[in-house]
Amino acid sequence: MATDESAWWRTGVVYQVYPRSFADSDGDGIGDIPGLIAHLDHLGPDGLGIDAIWLSPIYPSPGLDLGYDVADHAAIDPIMGSDGDFDRLVREAHDRGIRVILDLVMNHTSDQHPWFAASRASRDGARADWYLWRDPASRDPGGRPRPPNNWLSFFGGSAWTWEPTRGQFYLHTFLPGQPDLNWRQPAVRAALYSIVRGWLARGVDGFRLDVFNAFLKDPDLASNPVVGAAARPWDRQIHVNDKDQPDLAYLLDQFRAIVDERKGRMSVGELFEGGPETAARYTSERHLVFDFSLIEQDWSAEAFGRAIDAREAAFGPDRWPTVVLSNHDRSRQATRLGTVRMRADPDAIAKAAAVVLMTLRGTPFLYYGEEIGLRDVMIPSSEAIDPPARTAGPRFPWWNRDQCRSPMPWAPGPGAGFTTGRPWIRLGVDHEVRNVACQAADPESVLETYRRLLRARRANPTLCSGRFARIDSGNADVLAWTRSHEDDQALVLVNFTGDPARVAPVGVRGPWRPLAGTHLSWPDLPAGGLPLTLRPYEAVVLGRVQTALAQSG
Ligand code: NOJ
Repeated sequence: MATDESAWWRTGVVYQVYPRSFADSDGDGIGDIPGLIAHLDHLGPDGLGIDAIWLSPIYPSPGLDLGYDVADHAAIDPIMGSDGDFDRLVREAHDRGIRVILDLVMNHTSDQHPWFAASRASRDGARADWYLWRDPASRDPGGRPRPPNNWLSFFGGSAWTWEPTRGQFYLHTFLPGQPDLNWRQPAVRAALYSIVRGWLARGVDGFRLDVFNAFLKDPDLASNPVVGAAARPWDRQIHVNDKDQPDLAYLLDQFRAIVDERKGRMSVGELFEGGPETAARYTSERHLVFDFSLIEQDWSAEAFGRAIDAREAAFGPDRWPTVVLSNHDRSRQATRLGTVRMRADPDAIAKAAAVVLMTLRGTPFLYYGEEIGLRDVMIPSSEAIDPPARTAGPRFPWWNRDQCRSPMPWAPGPGAGFTTGRPWIRLGVDHEVRNVACQAADPESVLETYRRLLRARRANPTLCSGRFARIDSGNADVLAWTRSHEDDQALVLVNFTGDPARVAPVGVRGPWRPLAGTHLSWPDLPAGGLPLTLRPYEAVVLGRVQTALAQSG
């Protein structure tokens, strides 16, 4: 079991900050780095007690994709603060034992990036081949150029945009304002690696790699096979040529060697589509890969049980997974999981989901606001900011990611303690009651449940790193698993239903004592702990009481 300090990426909890929405210090309605620094105590050892923060992009950006269109990878967006603010953030986070992970967007840049400005200017300048430029496949009868292949933008339409200056198309897997870099050009890699080294030198502890498995494309840019009907145009192709190329492994090794030059640094790759097998294949020591299979499940024991088994089978005992139930691209878990069933209580489900997140095998990634059970915020289409949401329609079905990016409510009152100005996007309607201050004062809140769970993890390392086994709870609506290390064992029971559930887990030996759970009071534990009856949506973490014999042995 990994217990040394440098294995924090395995034992710790990573908290995702969406900086625009976390805390605004200057009243412009947009969250910033000084605002984040001012709220570090919420995250530090006297608050939630997380181990690292991952910051969604904080670099200068025209903001077409809210920071995922980077105009300078080595600088701080003035909207977010200054260079000095960033260095202070790293210092102040480290002082509280919090590591800092940056979001590296290296598949593409903004079209406002000086590299792209140079590249688009001519076919034979120094940066001419830093992006993927191609001649038209042909011309239509009207003389208009046809794109080089059938590739699609994930955000809708063709992945190719015509650039009259060069008389060529350029490739963009996302928006036209996000041209894809040419990773096969060594100078591009060298420039990106030097940026990575620069951030490491500034004390950054790790990186999240945006859509890393799309860095390389088929060298001949062959069209993707078409599979026919699917609601989203993107799903009508098999994406064998625009991502997941075999020679990517070599480039990842190059990148990882740079990160590995420094002790205790890590990375986590954002898998751009693909299941747990693909995620496991790309995973290596100190380099995690998101597996989004849990995020895609309905709130049922059957669905989660199947997904957990598939992950465990894919990763096996030697590869370390991540646990992700939400992020800045998906519906929030209280809304997504909590409103599926009629009369379900989203807060109760949010607490049970917290137990799942914090006790499965893998590094938990907790998205800001989930710790207070934030809901998706309905943004009227007239206020939509997310670019694909603005162009969504029957021919391009798309969900609105604005809904999961609403400002963090810190306290009751106007601006919810997030800003003294007008928030860049709507606050949730319940911010007067659903905020950090109110929940900190309520021992039964979602926040206090998270705090208790994180404390239990810190006090019981087996919960973080122990071997994982799923066991039969004796009840189809209740999932059960154990985490074990030597004589130490934890037992987790999660009731997925709104009804009481009697459980008599098979194959475990107590006696058990409660470590943490969704409820402040414990279910009636018989002597020895089992069998017991869980209350609706109740989840408990039990620890095996070490007998005198076991302790002396
Ligand atoms: C994945 C990010 O999570 C998403 O927010 C972004 O729009 C795309 N990559 C493009 O960078």
